[in-house]
Amino acid sequence: MKKQPIGVFDSGLGGLTILKALRRQLPHEDLIYFGDTANVPYGSKSKAAVTKFSLAIARFLQSQEVKLIIVACNTASAQALAELRREMDVPVMGVIEPGAQKAAKVTRNGRIAVLGTEGTVRSKAYPKAILKRAPRAAVLQQACPLFVPLAEESWGQKPAARLIAREYLEPVQKSGADTVILGCTHYPLLKPVIASILGKKVTLVDSADTLAEAAQQFLASRRQLETGGKGRVRLYASDDPARFKHLAQRLLAEPIGAVRLKKLDL
Ligand code: DGL
Repeated sequence: MKKQPIGVFDSGLGGLTILKALRRQLPHEDLIYFGDTANVPYGSKSKAAVTKFSLAIARFLQSQEVKLIIVACNTASAQALAELRREMDVPVMGVIEPGAQKAAKVTRNGRIAVLGTEGTVRSKAYPKAILKRAPRAAVLQQACPLFVPLAEESWGQKPAARLIAREYLEPVQKSGADTVILGCTHYPLLKPVIASILGKKVTLVDSADTLAEAAQQFLASRRQLETGGKGRVRLYASDDPARFKHLAQRLLAEPIGAVRLKKLDL
């Protein structure tokens, strides 16, 4: 079981921010990443659609004999995690719990803002997870739908990104939140612009490192941690693998092999 890979998926590029953290934390593990480029964005789709895509990807990953599936997508974690856990034979981890846990720990004034897709905001998964840990916290949610295409197009540093971010972040600034969760795995790609608008007093939380640590502990507790050799990464995309490869290469900053095309059985 140790030698089996870990499966990771997202609607597109965003989950690569999680993959990077997993590479750092678990350098010996083989990782399989699936970017659902045919169906991105998930954030504006219904729960039924996101669940259908997530189940199809998880089934594919399971067919690759993964030992663990990591849902590197907040929208899918918020809307499909329970269903995935019911349907899959392997354990499934999502990104909401680690992010909520970290935010509840680092906030000093108990005011936490969550930036996410429309689907994540609608599910209220973050407020629920935060209030379980910090019942007196005030949680504001802000949907930022335009952040995903900006990240997918590598437009994070352009003036348009700043203009849009200023608009989305105004209510967050007014709320006095000292902690802001980047509740979509695409948003760390816009971290510099978000951080420069919110300023140094606001802590930005993304789930990547916390999730990677949780995955390590989980595998260690099951004696499934790979401890030797250099882990390999295999990438799949459901559409236009060449474009995905080009963007992924830049983001991961390490040579990646071919990105394989895998159409989903929906
Ligand atoms: N990266 C995903 C998330 O964390 C989804 C973005 C999208 O496809 O809308 O929510």
